Amino acid sequence: MNQTEQWTSKLGFILAAAGSAIGLGAIWKFPYVAGTSGGGAFFIIFLVFTLLVGLPLLLAEFVIGRSTQQNAITAYKTIAPHSHWHWLGYLGIATSCILLSFYSVVGGWIVLYLLHSLGGLLVQGTQYDQLFQQMISDPWMAVGAQFIFLLLTILVVARGVQEGIEKANKYMMPALFILFVILIFRSLTLEGAMKGVTFFLYPDFGKLTSESILYAMGQSFFSLSVGVSVMVTYSSYLAKSESLPRSALTIVGLNLLISLLAGLAIFPAVFSLGLEPAAGPGLLFIVLPSVFAKLPLGGVFLTVFLVLFLFATLTSSFSLVEITVASLTKGDRAKRKKITWLTGMFIFLLGIPSALSYGIWSDATIFGKIIFDVADYLVSNILLPLGALLIAIFVPLKMKREVLLEEITAGSKNGRRFFALWLLLLRYITPIAIIIVFLDVLNVI
Ligand code: PHE
Repeated sequence: MNQTEQWTSKLGFILAAAGSAIGLGAIWKFPYVAGTSGGGAFFIIFLVFTLLVGLPLLLAEFVIGRSTQQNAITAYKTIAPHSHWHWLGYLGIATSCILLSFYSVVGGWIVLYLLHSLGGLLVQGTQYDQLFQQMISDPWMAVGAQFIFLLLTILVVARGVQEGIEKANKYMMPALFILFVILIFRSLTLEGAMKGVTFFLYPDFGKLTSESILYAMGQSFFSLSVGVSVMVTYSSYLAKSESLPRSALTIVGLNLLISLLAGLAIFPAVFSLGLEPAAGPGLLFIVLPSVFAKLPLGGVFLTVFLVLFLFATLTSSFSLVEITVASLTKGDRAKRKKITWLTGMFIFLLGIPSALSYGIWSDATIFGKIIFDVADYLVSNILLPLGALLIAIFVPLKMKREVLLEEITAGSKNGRRFFALWLLLLRYITPIAIIIVFLDVLNVI
């Protein structure tokens, strides 16, 4: 059955796909993983992975989605009928559910901060580390906030991609960008800020380990939303006339820019305030309010920032639910509402252990990691690279060269030259890089 939804404009698609990409990955996760994995050297490796591996994969997912105009499962079935390749769609669905199960916990933290800041409780000499600790360890608060976050997601996705997802994206992204610029300005003018800039941008490759290279790879996939077939789903709603390479480059560029801005806003402040760059998941939540507190009208700015941050996180969350909803409804609008609710509630239940793992379940560990960290590790460092590897094998193997060429060159002038480079990267560099990183971490090489 053909899908009935379509983006109403090219901008709609770019904003939705960029909205899926830009979220916790670039704003929250990137700074803290860079902080624990070597600073500047990590950034460079992340950059290389994003351009040479993530970008070709993003395009590969676009090509699968747009050429078939089908959901994540049917798309693989259409290209490779009577084979097992559609399991790649199921893998994507499973990955996106596990991903959102812990993603929504952090979404909940933003909701809690926002409620606090609206109540005027966040500035005036707050001890942010204590407040943060207190909030995330309270079971009712953590689970309740996660529920609110998922509820917001469900309400939008249930309305459908056009009305719900597309419209919401238009104004928030540019506003987020402007706020980051203000933040960076304040952060860089704090005393001792330069130490943070050096930490973040000066590459000391001696600090890199095989684990940190794995993290850089996982981070590049996570923050571009690739390896899950979410981008297959989104591009299936895209009209044939738009240029895929241009869209992919825009998204990669925006995503790198936001990661860079987040790093520049956070690290100078970390060093100036004498905090620890390796503080982990709480880094952003502890550092940024401290910077806002040093701005005139800091409370107002903080509230605005939290609204935008919540929004960026929600737009990623929409895409993580949409992949399942699209696959289960198969384009039947009448089923959308019910299936969205069921999917959202399932993810909520799945996520409760992650929400509790910073409080009453902090003793439940696997390989020394709490449940939240296990879910994150499983997704970012195993499932996403695995999905990515299979997509990189699938596209050159199962799709006709004419179809690939047509998809890549449609609507773009330099498409042909780009096509050769893209296929080369996808066919050789992507799989080899992923396999090497895996083997390296397993200590096989
Ligand atoms: N890219 C999103 C972020 O950085 C997370 C995500 C991953 C969303 C995979 C969809 C699919 O926040």
